[in-house]
Amino acid sequence: MSQLSMFKDTQVFLPSKKFSAAANLNKQKYKILQKKAEEDYVKFWAELATEHITWHKQFTKTLNENSHPFFQWFEDGKLNVSYNCLDRHLKNTPHKTAIIFESDSGQIETYTYKELHAKVCKFANGLKSLGARCGDRVIIYLPHSAEAIIAMQACARIGVIHSVVFAGFSARALGDRIIDAKAKIIITADEQRRGGKILPLKNEVNAALELIGKATTVEHVIVQRKTGGETWLVHGRDLWWHDLIRDQKDICSSVWVTSEHPLFILYTSGSTGVPKGVVHASGGYLLGAVMSMKWVFDYKPDDVFWCTADVGWITGHTYVCYGPLAVGATIIIYEGVLTYPTPNRFWEIIERNQVSVFYTAPTAIRTLMKLGAELPNKFDLSSLRLLGSVGEPINPKAWLWFYEVVGKKQCPIVDTWWQTETGCAMLSTIPGVNQLKPGSCNFPVPGIIADIIDEAGNALDNTATGYLVIKKPFPSQIRTIWNNPGRYINSYFPQSIGCGKYYVAGDSAYKDEDGYFWILGRIDDVLNVSGHRLGTMEIESALAANSILAEAAVVGKPHEIKGESVFAFVVCKGGNTRPVGDEARRLEQELKDWVAGRIGSIAKPDEIKFVDNLPKTRSGKIMRRLLRSIVRNEEITQDVSTLENFTILEQLKN
Ligand code: WTA
Repeated sequence: MSQLSMFKDTQVFLPSKKFSAAANLNKQKYKILQKKAEEDYVKFWAELATEHITWHKQFTKTLNENSHPFFQWFEDGKLNVSYNCLDRHLKNTPHKTAIIFESDSGQIETYTYKELHAKVCKFANGLKSLGARCGDRVIIYLPHSAEAIIAMQACARIGVIHSVVFAGFSARALGDRIIDAKAKIIITADEQRRGGKILPLKNEVNAALELIGKATTVEHVIVQRKTGGETWLVHGRDLWWHDLIRDQKDICSSVWVTSEHPLFILYTSGSTGVPKGVVHASGGYLLGAVMSMKWVFDYKPDDVFWCTADVGWITGHTYVCYGPLAVGATIIIYEGVLTYPTPNRFWEIIERNQVSVFYTAPTAIRTLMKLGAELPNKFDLSSLRLLGSVGEPINPKAWLWFYEVVGKKQCPIVDTWWQTETGCAMLSTIPGVNQLKPGSCNFPVPGIIADIIDEAGNALDNTATGYLVIKKPFPSQIRTIWNNPGRYINSYFPQSIGCGKYYVAGDSAYKDEDGYFWILGRIDDVLNVSGHRLGTMEIESALAANSILAEAAVVGKPHEIKGESVFAFVVCKGGNTRPVGDEARRLEQELKDWVAGRIGSIAKPDEIKFVDNLPKTRSGKIMRRLLRSIVRNEEITQDVSTLENFTILEQLKN
């Protein structure tokens, strides 16, 4: 099946009349918004920013288009993101539940807006007492938890730039991020629980700081006691979270920052071995988060909103920490894995909490589907009114299962396409307005001017595959790559695609005959494994650092549940000494563990193949496209005349 037909389904579904009638956007309102954005997109965003954000000082300048591609939005306005997420709800809904946290082992904690505000203030005062000041960087290396949200909000409150590092990353990956961000403080926990297992966190921080050694910028490590496991604290540098906040006041005034003040840095994978620190600005990012909550997720005050993403990824930033709190929602945070202690866990959480909006990833949907419809059918899921998918293309089979078994054909599905760099959903169904096509991300949301172009920058006709671009600036877009503005330009405004005029997303896509967008996948060396972004070069450099290997090439292989799996071809040092049998199996395991140690378990290759050589062109470039065809069992149609070592093909294929 071609990629195109694999994702294509001819069925269309309409939102129910009941849903449409109550939706925040109906056809008429949507049309008005579209028209306004088309006429003057700058004015369009200015009006929304004025209406939906609480400014300490109203902006007078909306966008300076001359600063391309370093756009600035609402630059003379002043605000505080944490104020917008917490304080502005204190007057009307102080006792509304903000967070329902459920731990891996099943303990439940709830926080009202008033309680959350107090906790954030106490922690922010604690950070200040350690010398954290506006503009400093703080790394948050915590499990998916209420504390992670408290830490993020506390940073935002005092203008500190946070960088959350997913707690599954290894000490080395953490260390690289600490160095790049020049972090002053690290916030972590003793250990984390996942799926009944206990995993160290503070030990990883210790190891990261040991690797960094004297070059460290870290003055303090704040440790939350989570499991009570034995933990080694360095005197003078490390301290317990509970000790830090013990005598702190539960009021902490917000630091008013300019709209362009960086809210956070989030590291993500690109085409090289080094992750990029994506920088988001306060005002524009917040506006994107808020508008998408209202338009895409059709937010209503009595919603119980559950986005299952970990706070270590962008989806957890925008649709757990910032978007839902900014609109005053009640959110669910579940620490653990979906099958622990039983495969009913997700359904129990939805039933018990009367979840109304459920936003998850195709990989989770496929896992749940594989476990069988009997499980969700045993639960009362009638509280659900809207479903969402993100992170990778969703295949129609999984889409239909989600729609029929989970949503009982009553809930629209919003398939949201976006990226760490875009900050919030860019292409999506507007539920209540658009018809749904399983596998399509529908249309750009109002204010987003997206298109499909060829290399020269010409807009392509419907059905032609090309590069997905966003043609006009938008408030929530990446501002730069931390410490590397040159890489920012080359990655997102490359001369080679569209002559540097447009934001190039790095995905290939097409519009169908009705103009619906369909995403086909990445055009660069980025893999999407279970919705997690991984750079092939990152994994290759990790492998190549192992003393037994001479070189490695990594490609993605289609995977039924994960979307893609990691397949590595490796060459041992010392010529033709390819291990076989038990020796190969032992080394394979050793290399998998090695990658887990260098990056994290998420990057572990699923398969490793020992070969005598990699296919290379005469100039020495690895022919990855060829390797991709081989792992997909596809017929090799590309030109192999430039292949230097032709005989290697047979060995690679076996
Ligand atoms: C992919 C995640 C198809 C895409 C929010 C993008 C998707 C990358 C979708 C960004 C979707 C995300 N359909 N593909 N609905 N959503 N992607 O930065 O390849 O972790 O470029 O952000 O995920 O991944 P990131």
